[in-house]
Amino acid sequence: MNRFVGKTVVITGSGSGIGKATALRFAEEGANIVNIDMNKENAESTESEIKKMNKEVLTIIGDISKKEDVNNFVQKSIERFKQVDILVNNAGIGANSISSLMSIPIEQWDRIIDVNLRGTFLMCKYFLKSMVKNPHTEESPIRGKIINVASMRGKIPKAKMSAYSASKAGVIALTKSLALELGSRRITVNAVLPGTILTGIWGSNVTAEQIAGFGGVVPLKHQKVGLPKDVAGLICFLASKDADWITGNDFRISGGMIT
Ligand SMILES: NC(=O)c1ccc[n+]([C@@H]2O[C@H](COP(=O)([O-])OP(=O)(O)OC[C@H]3O[C@@H](n4cnc5c(N)ncnc54)[C@H](O)[C@@H]3O)[C@@H](O)[C@H]2O)c1
Repeated sequence: MNRFVGKTVVITGSGSGIGKATALRFAEEGANIVNIDMNKENAESTESEIKKMNKEVLTIIGDISKKEDVNNFVQKSIERFKQVDILVNNAGIGANSISSLMSIPIEQWDRIIDVNLRGTFLMCKYFLKSMVKNPHTEESPIRGKIINVASMRGKIPKAKMSAYSASKAGVIALTKSLALELGSRRITVNAVLPGTILTGIWGSNVTAEQIAGFGGVVPLKHQKVGLPKDVAGLICFLASKDADWITGNDFRISGGMIT
């Protein structure tokens, strides 16, 4: 498929896991990629894979929770590609910080909320300024698409995951509020809610089997954990023309896990 030829996609946290798989999938399908991560080494590995495909990529290193960095992302993206069509707010932290509310250090709570919720807010706020000016035609009636990566935990929280669950519930509410606000401006906003996905967010010392145990019951027994490419497929569908009439929704991708 070549669904994104001529489109520019900004992806945060594209140096690893779900973000990397999503960046590669968009590139495979013809998009120009803005590859944003705070980890330089990871970001460079994504860049080199995209370059091997002979696709356009701009790598920017920075922290989505910092206003100055986000302004820099916007400025560099527009300088290079003129307009941004799709924004994927994927960077996130904290799925593996298990702590009771009484013992969680305040700095840890603040950092999880800052990256997951404030970071998504800042990215939307500053990228929208240019997205609302994108042209639209009868053939392409949508000016822009935003896809926020939340989590099942934003809907179904777990004990000792208060900061992460609250941050992701915030991302889901932000998604819905923005969709209502931006519908008349021809911008769609949706959230994806992954279940347990095999990525670096769980740390480097855990096995796939242990990771599978972190989630609830997965009815699709042949595959107890999701793979980054599974989530990438859903994100790309929501960014495609086939999803032009979908906005304000949250989509679980969890192998059927519902608790
Ligand atoms: N893996 C899962 O089981 C799972 C489940 C539900 C939701 N999610 C969500 O999916 C998203 C991607 O997670 P993943 O599992 O691929 O994680 P990952 O750790 O493999 O990748 C996250 C990437 O984001 C980058 N990043 C972190 N903070 C950043 C910041 N402040 N600014 C810029 N980049 C930053 C990291 O450097 C890393 O490259 C996250 O929002 C996460 O909460 C993951």
